[in-house]
Amino acid sequence: MAVGQLWEGIQRRPRAKAPLNRVLAKRMTKTSDGTVTSPTRDLGEDSVHWQRFAVAFDFPVHFTRGLFNPSNPVLAETLARLEPARRHRCLVFLDDGLLAVRPQLVEEIAAYAEAQAGRMELVAAPIVMPGGERLKSELYFVEQMQQALFEHHIDRHSYVIGVGGGALLDAVGLVAATTHRGVRHIRVPTTVLSQTESGVGVKNGVNLYGQKNFVGTFAPPFAVLNDAEMIDALPARDKIAGMAEAVKVALIRDGDFFAWLERNADGLALFEGAAMATLIRRCAELHMRQIAQGGDPFETGSARPLDYGHWAAHKLEAMTRHHLRHGEAVAIGLALDARYSVLTGLLKPGEEERICFLLEHLGFKLWHAALDKREADGRHVVLQGLRDFREHLGGELTITLLAEIGTGIEVHEMDEALVAEAIAWLTQRTCD
Ligand SMILES: NC(=O)c1ccc[n+]([C@@H]2O[C@H](COP(=O)([O-])OP(=O)(O)OC[C@H]3O[C@@H](n4cnc5c(N)ncnc54)[C@H](O)[C@@H]3O)[C@@H](O)[C@H]2O)c1
Ligand SMILES: [Zn+2]
Repeated sequence: MAVGQLWEGIQRRPRAKAPLNRVLAKRMTKTSDGTVTSPTRDLGEDSVHWQRFAVAFDFPVHFTRGLFNPSNPVLAETLARLEPARRHRCLVFLDDGLLAVRPQLVEEIAAYAEAQAGRMELVAAPIVMPGGERLKSELYFVEQMQQALFEHHIDRHSYVIGVGGGALLDAVGLVAATTHRGVRHIRVPTTVLSQTESGVGVKNGVNLYGQKNFVGTFAPPFAVLNDAEMIDALPARDKIAGMAEAVKVALIRDGDFFAWLERNADGLALFEGAAMATLIRRCAELHMRQIAQGGDPFETGSARPLDYGHWAAHKLEAMTRHHLRHGEAVAIGLALDARYSVLTGLLKPGEEERICFLLEHLGFKLWHAALDKREADGRHVVLQGLRDFREHLGGELTITLLAEIGTGIEVHEMDEALVAEAIAWLTQRTCD
């Protein structure tokens, strides 16, 4: 149908008084060359041409062991996925915390590249960056990494590979997403938390002005390669911290998984290999499902179901200048919002105790002195976390609470007096 005819049709419609933009947007047509166009109306200088397209994203998440073992084909095959005949240029950033426990990793990666020389080329020796939140807290590091991409001529067909914890992956992801407006980016998460959640997601970012992830983008990676061997070397404190996100996603999405965590709490507390592997895989699957099927992968709305327990967690992290690990702060946030859910009548009384019991069994402490810090007017400082959260969402405050174990529910306001009551409850049960 010609655009002119279409426009006449619209004019004849009795409801043609609907806003012009909306009418035109609904009348998208596909031309023979596949271009989607909309009818336009020539109003002199005032006209509207509606643009619309969709981009499908897909990326593999591999679970393997011994990723840099020269006979392991996963990395080389991943690089060759789109252009099998090419030799792919790669720049690797390595987490120094990981290197401290696996000092031979630089040589291992070099030996791997040599063994797979037909498919990959390291443009430089792996570049070691500080691991942990420090990397995200100074923009200087972002620029330093961008400079490395510039100096090594990383183009949009080369690869940037981040090997490290969630903080390193967040910062490397931002560098990859912004250099040349986006270069291919492979994540090799090396902590429990990053293998279960941040590594398999689509976000990156660094902190600025004291705010977590103030600068960042949504940019799906080219691939995620989870290596179980990386977890072996992780200190106990970080193994425990990583399990907080598994408890979180079980609480909001999967009651059976929560029951599984309860049944396997002993094995998990001892970091037993099979139990940890199941936790990581199930948790990663639930996060992937939320991103692909949750209807809002780039979080344009105000709902953040995956951020259950996080409004307090982000504030506690900042208040303790990151002495509390992300997962440790999240565990406190989960407990706080579970008690709050009970106090508002959403969650059956007793369930919050069940949640706290599991978290403590896994090794978490559910209280920190920062929780009790007050403003001059006596209000808890942590409540600022709600304001920061609202500001970060940019619209209506949306907080996920619990309707039952396995089911999250969204609310749009939090009663500060009840939050204070929930804090008092946590203080009492931990400090008595
Ligand atoms: N992008 C997202 O969607 C998303 C989601 C959740 C969390 N995050 C972010 O992830 C970060 C936390 O990540 P994390 O929990 O992985 O911690 P982390 O990256 O801060 O790492 C913790 C410590 O472990 C070290 N390390 C890393 N791998 C190691 C290994 N295998 N063995 C020994 N030490 C190792 C690091 O050097 C660091 O000192 C936070 O900045 C958080 O905001 C991002
Ligand atoms: Zn988190």
